[in-house]
Amino acid sequence: MLLRSPATAGLFFLLCTTAALAQGDAKRGEYLSKAGGCLGCHTEERKDATPYAGGRALKTPFGTFYGPNITPDKKVGIGRWALADFVRALREGEEPDGAHFFPAFPYSSFTRITDADLLDLWAYLQSLKPSPQPSKPHDLGFPFNVRLSLLGWKWLFFAPGEFRPDASKSAQVNRGAYLAVALGHCGECHTPRNIAGGPKKDRYLGGAKLGEGTTAPNITPTRLKRYGDSELKDILSSGLFPDGDVMGDTMSEVVRNTTSQLTAADLDALIAYLRSVPALPDEPK
Ligand code: HEC
Ligand code: HEC
Repeated sequence: MLLRSPATAGLFFLLCTTAALAQGDAKRGEYLSKAGGCLGCHTEERKDATPYAGGRALKTPFGTFYGPNITPDKKVGIGRWALADFVRALREGEEPDGAHFFPAFPYSSFTRITDADLLDLWAYLQSLKPSPQPSKPHDLGFPFNVRLSLLGWKWLFFAPGEFRPDASKSAQVNRGAYLAVALGHCGECHTPRNIAGGPKKDRYLGGAKLGEGTTAPNITPTRLKRYGDSELKDILSSGLFPDGDVMGDTMSEVVRNTTSQLTAADLDALIAYLRSVPALPDEPK
């Protein structure tokens, strides 16, 4: 059952017809992995942790998830996976055996990653040294520990399929949109959720409470207009605000792992995109 949906069918068509494309570029994949923040969620938070070997605790209102080992170890990592399994995981949010992944793995964003970029990401992960560190089981309360219950969530909120550029916008804004939506998953934190855990579409990037006193602020132009482009560039590459304030932990990790790693052109594109989204008033307190 490889051709499960039209969303993945395209890639398999490509794979069958273009041999050259089937060779992902690991170097590009490494860059995309930074842009997607893969390292942070899949690496334990200690100094000598093995990158991508899993163990990072991700606290959510549903319990604590642990990013699994995604090195190519055959026993505990994804060493037995085929490219098709990887594509299915990121594009469809499904495990190789068909079980549903929890949305703590932001596949509702990653489903927008292009076929070519998925190939490069795969090539990069395959190039890592296998780590024998077993993944930690998630620590979730009932009913969230039941993977079957995810079907409802997916049915409601998950629309698989790769990013489609908006022809009415410039190439730069589209590139920024791709970085924000498909890879950087900015909306996973900055867009508030409804009671069932789905994003409130009409409040896109309008700011959201993340729990434990942390708020991801409104990053639509309503708030960001206070910064010039070069200030915003500094904020996203240094984690420091113009007044000397330091970014809080949650976002400073995004800055460290992702936005500070972007090329100058990509950072410009990301900012151009943030300038282009509908300006929303702040979320009511
Ligand atoms: C916000 C945290 C987060 C980010 C960012 C993230 N992941 Fe994950 N990932 C997870 C969690 C949590 C799981 C486990 C989900 C589950 O068990 O249902 C997971 C699972 C996976 C799996 C399945 C592993 C397995 O053994 O089943 C793969 C592959 C994967 N992620 C790859 C990636 C890649 C590639 C990126 C970057 C493009 C990425 N992840 C970014 C949290 C994250
Ligand atoms: C894991 C959650 C998370 C993700 C993902 C995330 N952010 Fe944030 N972001 C935050 C939090 C929390 C803050 C507040 C930090 C503070 O006030 O110290 C923040 C602050 C910011 C700010 C500063 C706004 C201001 O005026 O105070 C900007 C700009 C920003 N984020 C942009 C982005 C962009 C662009 C992305 C995607 C590439 C992104 N964020 C992804 C959680 C997140």
